[in-house]
Amino acid sequence: MSHNYKLGELIIEGKTKQVYELVDNPELCLLQNKDRITAGDGVKAHDLEGKAAISNATNGKVFELLNQAGIKTAFVQIAGETASVSRKCEMIPIEWVTRRLATGSFIRRHAGVPEGYRFNPPLQETFFKDDANHDPQWSEEQIISAQFKVNNLLIGKDEVDIMRHTTITVFEVLERAWATRDCALIDMKIEFGVDNKGEILVADVIDSDSWRLWPSGDKRLMKDKQVYRNLTTVTQADLETVKRNFKWIANQLDHLVPPPSSLVVILMGSPSDEEHCQKIAKHAMALGLRAQLRVSSAHKATEETLRILAEYEGSGEKVVLVAVAGRSNGLGPVLSGNTPFPVINCPPVKPDSVSQDIWSSLNVPSGLGCTTVLYPESAALAAAQIHALHDHLVWSRLRVKQLTNFVTLKKADKKLRNLNL
Ligand SMILES: Nc1ncnc2c1ncn2[C@@H]1O[C@H](COP(=O)(O)OP(=O)(O)O)[C@@H](O)[C@H]1O
Ligand SMILES: [Mg+2]
Repeated sequence: MSHNYKLGELIIEGKTKQVYELVDNPELCLLQNKDRITAGDGVKAHDLEGKAAISNATNGKVFELLNQAGIKTAFVQIAGETASVSRKCEMIPIEWVTRRLATGSFIRRHAGVPEGYRFNPPLQETFFKDDANHDPQWSEEQIISAQFKVNNLLIGKDEVDIMRHTTITVFEVLERAWATRDCALIDMKIEFGVDNKGEILVADVIDSDSWRLWPSGDKRLMKDKQVYRNLTTVTQADLETVKRNFKWIANQLDHLVPPPSSLVVILMGSPSDEEHCQKIAKHAMALGLRAQLRVSSAHKATEETLRILAEYEGSGEKVVLVAVAGRSNGLGPVLSGNTPFPVINCPPVKPDSVSQDIWSSLNVPSGLGCTTVLYPESAALAAAQIHALHDHLVWSRLRVKQLTNFVTLKKADKKLRNLNL
């Protein structure tokens, strides 16, 4: 990777970063991390050599995961050891916090709630970014009444709803990812910006400053910035411990974006079904699955069909089978009767014989558990839902798909509502 970005003016400098214009692309900016750690709205602050690089790596891996899951973020790419490139935004000065377990400021603000109280669904809170007044908590009504205008977008009820949903989705995606490392994501904060197209994006950074992480769900093992916040005196040895923890988190993140491994095998009874099967494969890959196409007729090549099945059973992979056969579907039921793998029938029905074509997929002998869907997208979604039980990235794609549907409907409703008929 070469990083020859020509830096323009300094747009803004905060406690831990500088933001620069990029001369060759006015839509982007460079986030330059500082070797600086701060707490208590900047009251406590130390130089910590190597912190910029660790934060940068952490942030890059987190946003890589969010981007892969399909969340709309400002992150573009890492640009060297201590910087990254982002879409240039006007920022909304609100911190969006999500909590799974009660701790920290929550239990101070809500006397009587024990530490560790579990919020289900996760609790969402908002704070106005205002160091001088210690980032006061703001209600939805306060955010809307502030009438923030960012890149020509007025932040109203719709925008708040979109950000709240997105905030919780980001938390859920990262919570599941961290769970694969036996780490409990306790709470976290994000910020949003609006780009020059008026699009709301998850922006700023997400690093060890942004969350509480408890390995094995044990508070005593915490690895995040709370360790630094808790220090009354700060020795060099303390700072080294904080840095070692941050490094540990950055290293763990390498395991959170696995290459696609969940396999869907689309078995067709005849090569004439290929087009239908390609549609299933396309949708499956968009959901983060690996897809393979095979052809074999259960009626005309029964042994070969069972041999192909044995091939996958012996592969050690996690496989969902999709059976595609027109007219009488022997394929799906034969597969289903001979394997514990899930089998989804997706017959390519003809409009004038639908009811006859689906009958063989539905009216199966006792002992068979294959399911049936009619549309290629449905087959891919059904396979993804099965894989999502063990594959957090597939789960995240499905979750973000729901978020995207929510946002699309909200935007469409806003547009229609504001039509002058
Ligand atoms: N993509 C972006 N475009 C424009 N500004 C950004 C972007 N991401 C982050 N910023 C802004 O960069 C500034 C510096 O970050 P930081 O040092 O964390 O500031 P703070 O101390 O206010 O939290 C913040 O005001 C933040 O909102
Ligand atoms: Mg900040």
